[in-house]
Amino acid sequence: MARSPIVVDRRYVLGTSAALVGAAFIPSVAQAQRGSEPSGQLAALELDDNNAVDVQVLQPGEMIVVATAGTYYGILRRTIEQIEAAQGTDAVRVPVKDGDRVKDENYLVADLACPHRGCQVGYTNKPDMPFLCPCHRSSFDASGRVLGGASRSNLAIPNYEINGSVVVFS
Ligand code: FES
Repeated sequence: MARSPIVVDRRYVLGTSAALVGAAFIPSVAQAQRGSEPSGQLAALELDDNNAVDVQVLQPGEMIVVATAGTYYGILRRTIEQIEAAQGTDAVRVPVKDGDRVKDENYLVADLACPHRGCQVGYTNKPDMPFLCPCHRSSFDASGRVLGGASRSNLAIPNYEINGSVVVFS
């Protein structure tokens, strides 16, 4: 099976973790993707042969970005505040329950392609608006549900499984 790169958006990742600091910068990965990409410098890790990645190095509030199949998937280890905020649906346009969008409340795994016109959303880490699309300012909560802006749909959830801190894409 062909290996796919994992990229780390350093601009929006708070703090550092030793395993990620050592990764090489490869902006060419971003350039190879269609359309826009998450902004910030990118560093490379790799999925293993099972299309899995162990994200135990992430601290609460940190996110890595997996580049695969022409799009980017974000894996966000949510803070307590983000988890609590995601429990509510008052502010969201499409009131899907958070529990129906995550398989482990500690992690959001979402396609970062904006449902409006496909720009890649950025991670802001703001508790009330963690994701923001740079194109037409659509905003999304910690469950990837749209809050405002041009999008009328939530961020898509890719096919994956999670076992502890290991995320496996299918
Ligand atoms: Fe994201 Fe238009 S592409 S708001």
